[in-house]
Parts: sequence; C-alpha cells; structure tokens
Amino acid sequence: MSIQRVMVIGAGQMGSGIAQVAATAGLEVLLHDMDPSLPEKAIEKMESFLDRDIKKGRKTEEKKNQILAKVLPSFKLKDAAEVDLVIEAVVEKMAVKVELFQRLDVICAQKTILASNTSSLPITEMAAVTNRPEKVIGMHFMNPVPVMKLVEVIRGLATSDQTFSTIRDLAIQMEKTPVEVNDFPGFVSNRVLMPMLNEAIFCVYEGVATVEAIDEVMKLGMNHPMGPLTLADHIGLDTCLSIMEVLYEGFGDSKYRPCPLLRKYVKAGWLGKKSGRGFYAYD
Ligand code: NAI
Repeated sequence: MSIQRVMVIGAGQMGSGIAQVAATAGLEVLLHDMDPSLPEKAIEKMESFLDRDIKKGRKTEEKKNQILAKVLPSFKLKDAAEVDLVIEAVVEKMAVKVELFQRLDVICAQKTILASNTSSLPITEMAAVTNRPEKVIGMHFMNPVPVMKLVEVIRGLATSDQTFSTIRDLAIQMEKTPVEVNDFPGFVSNRVLMPMLNEAIFCVYEGVATVEAIDEVMKLGMNHPMGPLTLADHIGLDTCLSIMEVLYEGFGDSKYRPCPLLRKYVKAGWLGKKSGRGFYAYD
C-alpha cells in the first residue's frame, strides 16, 4: 500500500519533527493537536529548523518552501477520514492513547493504518480497542526526529505483514533506518536506555555526585555524546517517569522502580527542557 496523506496527532516536540520528516519525504501532512494553537507554532519552529539547514548548506530556500507547503494545521480530528496513515504522538498515557484509537477507528477509512510513536506502551493493547488490529503498529521515532536515523517498528500481536512492510518502506522513504522489534514493555530502545537514566537520577538522589559530574563521567568515560541527566531533560522527565512505570508494571521487577527524585521533579512541574527546568535550568 502506498502512503500519500498522513495525519500527525500531537504537535509537541515529537509530532512536529515527525510532520517535518513526512513532508520532506513528499507526503501531504495534516498536523493536529487538542490545543488548536500548537500546530501553527510547530510549523513556525519547523521553519526555523529548516532555516538552520539552509545556513549550513544542507537545503535550499526552494526545498524549504516545498516542505512547508506540504504541512497544514488541522483543527478537527475528523480530518483523519481523508488520510492513509495516522501517526499519534500525544502524551505517554495509555488512557489517552486508547481513547484516541477508539475515536480514530470510527473516523478513519478501513484502509487507514494507525501508528503510535509511543516510547514504551503496548501496541497490542491499543490495537485491541479497534476493529482493525492488523492495521495497528508502532512507529517509534527518536528525538530530535529530523536528525536521528532510527525508527523502531513495533509489531503488535495481530499486526499484519502488509502493514509492517508498508511502514518499514515508509521509514526508508523518510531516510530513516527501520529496525523490527516485538511488542514488549519499552521495546528495545527504552528497555535498555531508561534504566540507565533512572540510575543516574538515583546517583543524584543518593548524593553520589553532582548533576554536572554524573554527566561528565558518562560523556568522557563512556563516550556518550550527551550526559544521562541532560538526555533525560531533553526527553522530558514526565515521559521518562511514564516509561519507567510501564517497565516496572510490565515486568513486575523492582530493578525498574522509578527513582523517588524523578517523581518529585515531575510533581513539581520540573519536566526538563520543555518546561524550562529539570536537572538543569533553561531559558
Ligand atoms: P509533548 O508533551 O511535547 O507533546 C504531546 C502533545 O500531545 C501536546 O502538544 C499535547 O497538547 C498533545 N495531546 C495530548 N493529548 C492529546 C489528544 N488526546 N489529542 C490530541 N493531542 C493531544 O510530548 P512528546 O515528547 O512529543 O511525546 C509524545 C509521544 O512521543 C509520547 O508517546 C512519547 O513517549 C513519545 N516519544 C517521545 C520521545 C522524546 O524524546 N520526548 C522520543 C520518542 C517517542
């Protein structure tokens, strides 16, 4: 099946990046958010991202205009009736995603594939609330989407081979490298990454070292491009906590216990870069 039109739901940090790479790959993109002011703002951010690419000689002004012309804000979920694929990138909460999938299942044409950019939640559970479980799949992009090459393509229990190959081919069209994984909590990326970030937060909590020192150890000692606390701030501490809770509940193993300091920061509204305060302060 060839994908021509896509709706991206959630115009936050991930949704805006996904909309940009989809438009760059030549798709018609509708960008929708429950907050009607966000799609326009995301398109403005996209423009400044593309301007940076022009300055670095990676894009032309003409290409930028072509990309921006392909992205339209959408103010009604009902617009999803017109698309071949929906990619949702709303908050990492199962109740929100399940409700959205139920509504989309009613709105969308039978051919439409429903994909989730979830970092950790079960694709099979989202598929089960629809009448098209064979057309539900995980399409997990990395942050920042225009830069990072990986897309984890997650097969739910009932995902068909046709849906899988359509999404794998689309990821390649978006100049990404798809990697197939099965549906288990945290998939591969966050099952391996997130316990490391949580452990770094435990090091802060237990006073093992300062935030800066922990990041320095991992950057210089392990050759990581970014320290774990900086990375947690970039991902969003609310998202990190949600993923740890999914691992903890999904495996029932205390090794995935979210650090109490992570919970405290999220309760305080210290969500990292997006809220201006996390382990570091941002302008
Ligand atoms: P974000 O907080 O920046 O954006 C979420 C957006 O969803 C907000 O604009 C919000 O208004 C909107 N939203 C919430 N409920 C909605 C609904 N019912 N209908 C329409 N819009 C709704 O979050 P972010 O970081 O973009 O994450 C989104 C998803 O992507 C999550 O599932 C997250 O786990 C996943 N993800 C996040 C990564 C990261 O590094 N932040 C990396 C890969 C995946």
